[in-house]
Amino acid sequence: MTASKHTGPTVPPHQAIRRLLPYYHPYRWQVAVGLSAVVLAALLASIVPSLLQRGVDAIRAGAARGDILQLGALMTATALVSGGLRFVMRLLLNGVSRHIETDLRHDLFARLVTLDAAWYARGRTGDVMARLTNDLSAVRMGAGPAVMYLVNTIAGALFAMIMMLRISPSLTAIALLPMLGLPVLMLRLGRRVHERFEIVQTQFGHLTTRAQENLAGVRVVRAYRQEDAETARFSALGEAYLTANMQLATLSGIMNPGFALLAGLGGAVTIGIGGRLLIDGDVTVGGYVAFGIYLTQLTWPLIALGWTTNLLQRAAASMIRILEILDAPPLAVIDAGTAALPDHVAENAPAGRAVEFRGVSFQYPAPRDHGTATELTEESATSAPRWVLRNISFHLPVGGTLAIVGATGSGKSALLDLIPRLFDPQEGQVLVDGIDVRTLPLATLRAEIGYVPQEALLFSESVGDNIGYGLDAPERTHLHAAAGIAQLRETVAALPDGLDTRLGERGINLSGGQKQRVALARALARHPRIVLLDDALSAVDTQTEAAILHELRTALRGRTAVITSHRASAVREADHILVLDHGRIVEQGTHDQLVALGGRFTQLLQRQQLLEAIEAA
Ligand SMILES: Nc1ncnc2c1ncn2[C@@H]1O[C@H](COP(=O)(O)OP(=O)(O)OP(=O)(O)O)[C@@H](O)[C@H]1O
Ligand SMILES: [Mg+2]
Repeated sequence: MTASKHTGPTVPPHQAIRRLLPYYHPYRWQVAVGLSAVVLAALLASIVPSLLQRGVDAIRAGAARGDILQLGALMTATALVSGGLRFVMRLLLNGVSRHIETDLRHDLFARLVTLDAAWYARGRTGDVMARLTNDLSAVRMGAGPAVMYLVNTIAGALFAMIMMLRISPSLTAIALLPMLGLPVLMLRLGRRVHERFEIVQTQFGHLTTRAQENLAGVRVVRAYRQEDAETARFSALGEAYLTANMQLATLSGIMNPGFALLAGLGGAVTIGIGGRLLIDGDVTVGGYVAFGIYLTQLTWPLIALGWTTNLLQRAAASMIRILEILDAPPLAVIDAGTAALPDHVAENAPAGRAVEFRGVSFQYPAPRDHGTATELTEESATSAPRWVLRNISFHLPVGGTLAIVGATGSGKSALLDLIPRLFDPQEGQVLVDGIDVRTLPLATLRAEIGYVPQEALLFSESVGDNIGYGLDAPERTHLHAAAGIAQLRETVAALPDGLDTRLGERGINLSGGQKQRVALARALARHPRIVLLDDALSAVDTQTEAAILHELRTALRGRTAVITSHRASAVREADHILVLDHGRIVEQGTHDQLVALGGRFTQLLQRQQLLEAIEAA
């Protein structure tokens, strides 16, 4: 497997290049002026040798000194203007390629933030990073410099050839004969450059992924004393990247001299036969000299052609990788709803929303072929999709608190994921205030929900910024209030700059429980009508969890809450409890009812008490 099949369909190279065209559109005038400058510069450059030809022949014919000087001045002026035009072309076309790179990056990022959870379950951060950096710059090189040199090559070669034909058609034919091999070389090697460059970029993605995972998980690496093993694994990837690059370099190494050889062959033939023509008097001395210069003028663009092909092939390979992200379908979750939720009129009316599941069955979309992780591919090849949730129904009235308990892997997180539509169920319906969530605009739905995921994820900003994330200029009192409900007051007070204390990457300088409470405060600060807590307090001790949940109950005042917890004891105050087992509801009722039942819930409760006793001992 060469390319990493990220998600979107792989498009053929010519289509990938075509998809780049719209990006030129805003800069079409710069491109037009830039390319005109290229052509004009090539034209002027091709005039210089013919002026020289005239000069040489004039000197031999014994022309006046003034005429020769005039020719010299004309040559200098032409060369100067040509140089000036080349400066303009670089400025404009390279500038455009930088703009295109920026626009593409913007689109890529905008796409990345809309892709759903299923896509991220398959994607690798490092691989995405590689596409955002290396691949983008390969596309830039193709979009700007390569196009510029290509046009320069074609125009330069064309003009040089016309001038050569004017000097001697037969000599031109002879000089160009070896160059017939060019298209063959270009097509043969070009495709292989494309293939090998794709491998290089994929390898780079693996390398970045590894580095990123290891650095993020450096604590785990150290704790398991895997420094050497990880370094070795990293080196192996580095070696693979090196090998891929060397193979590419070999190709490029063949390509440029190959082109030069074909051009040089023409030169050698010309000197021999041209000399003959000169002696026979069919060509003037000036013509012979000029012909030689035209030939070198032709040689350089041809060498550049090898290089340009190389750049364009790389750009196409990278553009394909970029399109895999840009074309990634927004998968299961389609944001096409237009329904509206009922307004809450009275200030004191219950501030929550009802949540209902009707016969919901769900399975996670199967991870597709990854390219970057063989382990994952093998695993997905053997495991058939299975139901994570099966036939779940419940009705949670406005202001109610529903608790979901169950063993690890029983489907608690999956159930919560369906409410903000991180995924859609394959069967059944999820309703909010009686409206199918699929008929609501995603933004409307998600604005109602404060979701605290199982893994608290904080940004490397201040604590206050983390709590106020997504709010326009939140008041400090507002942030403090949210922090208060999340039992963060003391923690914040103890921080060096209070709410303004900057956090390390992913909040590394907070404890697990503190992080969870910041994440909880973040959800509460938005005053959501529906609060989802996914084992959001697993890292705090049992007493604090109970205290927070108790405080929360008063603070939420009529809002609706769905809470999952590992600890059966934590859900004592919930209005209704669902006990999940392998994705099915096996028991439900209030805490007291379930205890009286003496079934699954009681088992969970006893197991937890036992664990706590062991921990305490
Ligand atoms: N992104 C995913 N893709 C495929 N399967 C998944 C994914 N996430 C979870 N699963 C599987 O779905 C099942 C239910 O997982 P879920 O996360 O809902 O369990 P949970 O009850 O929240 O467990 P825990 O108490 O450990 O958080 C598990 O068997 C898990 O392996
Ligand atoms: Mg979970």
